[in-house]
Amino acid sequence: MIKVAIIGLGFMGKTHLGVYLKLKDVEVVALAEAVRENTEFTSLDVGGNIKAPSRSIDLSRTRKYTDYEKLLADGGFDIIDICLPTFLHAEYTIKALKAGFNVFCEKPMAMSAEETDRMLAAVQASGKLFSVGQCLRFWPAYVEVKRLIDSGSYGKVKYAEFARFSAPPAWGWDNWSVDGKRSGNAAFDMHIHDVDMLLFLFGKPTAVRSRGVVDQDGSILHIASVYSYPDLTAASTGGWLCSDSFGFDMRAFFVLEKATIELDFAKDPVVSLYPMGGKKTAVALAEGDGYYHELVDFVAGVAKGKLSGRVTGQSAAESVKLALTEIESVRKDKELPFVSESGTGIL
Ligand SMILES: NC(=O)c1ccc[n+]([C@@H]2O[C@H](COP(=O)([O-])OP(=O)(O)OC[C@H]3O[C@@H](n4cnc5c(N)ncnc54)[C@H](O)[C@@H]3O)[C@@H](O)[C@H]2O)c1
Repeated sequence: MIKVAIIGLGFMGKTHLGVYLKLKDVEVVALAEAVRENTEFTSLDVGGNIKAPSRSIDLSRTRKYTDYEKLLADGGFDIIDICLPTFLHAEYTIKALKAGFNVFCEKPMAMSAEETDRMLAAVQASGKLFSVGQCLRFWPAYVEVKRLIDSGSYGKVKYAEFARFSAPPAWGWDNWSVDGKRSGNAAFDMHIHDVDMLLFLFGKPTAVRSRGVVDQDGSILHIASVYSYPDLTAASTGGWLCSDSFGFDMRAFFVLEKATIELDFAKDPVVSLYPMGGKKTAVALAEGDGYYHELVDFVAGVAKGKLSGRVTGQSAAESVKLALTEIESVRKDKELPFVSESGTGIL
């Protein structure tokens, strides 16, 4: 039995709890929250932008904490799952690793390159297992797109485009997600999903040029980026300035030598393959979402003592650094080289 403690029971904490409750051989033994009432619920209404049906749950045997240090001191679990606002990820992850626990931390890994590098050093020093919720690497639609591209059956990718459009987040503790200093705003918090998928599919670009809609506090509400690769043109855009009646959508579009692939969660089918000289076909997708598959993968890795490595601390840190380079490109209004080792990016 793998035992889990979750800290932060907002949108993501409840989403993760819902996943763990479905898994055999996993028990959620402790919950921690700044707001005591957030650990006292009998039905799981997740909220957020990815809807899940409400269901009744029994947490009467689960330990509840408002004091993180006490949770760490009491222990009795294998994994701490950190679903806190992003500005707390580094501090809480490092404390958990030092206390001897494996850590699953929500995305973005941290707020700065300095923080990601301190977290990586703490992972190494602790010898514990660590991963980050870059869930697109496990989301069936994106997994199928990667499989189609990697198969080589349709030739090389000539053009790739990623998009993520949303109304402003209407949930959240203390409005943290729309506070650039605590979340990085949409260009960091939300856009990092597509940044991470770009890196997963195509590796590091040599440079990036971004423009964006700047909020009153200087953080960025919507970003549009073009990435430099030697033999591929790639672009990505995203933000949460859309009207509330629009809601949320994630899209991607790929032009290969012998096919076009379209991914759009507002369409049915979500992934379509248009082969050159052939007919449009719906791409079959596995059941479940990225949250489910990433946690199944992490739990299995902890049980084995070795993670699959589809997301690593290094890959998540690289996504943070590329997103920060894009934000810097908006601010400086010029193309910037992407130097993932330099570790100088700040929000
Ligand atoms: N993977 C995804 O698709 C996805 C989607 C949304 C959010 N996220 C990420 O998940 C994280 C959490 O986002 P969310 O939308 O769940 O936020 P949220 O505001 O809904 O939940 C955060 C919770 O943390 C609690 N909290 C705040 N400070 C605390 C502290 N010091 N100690 C204990 N509890 C504390 C709050 O009371 C709140 O319940 C963020 O890093 C966000 O970027 C990921």
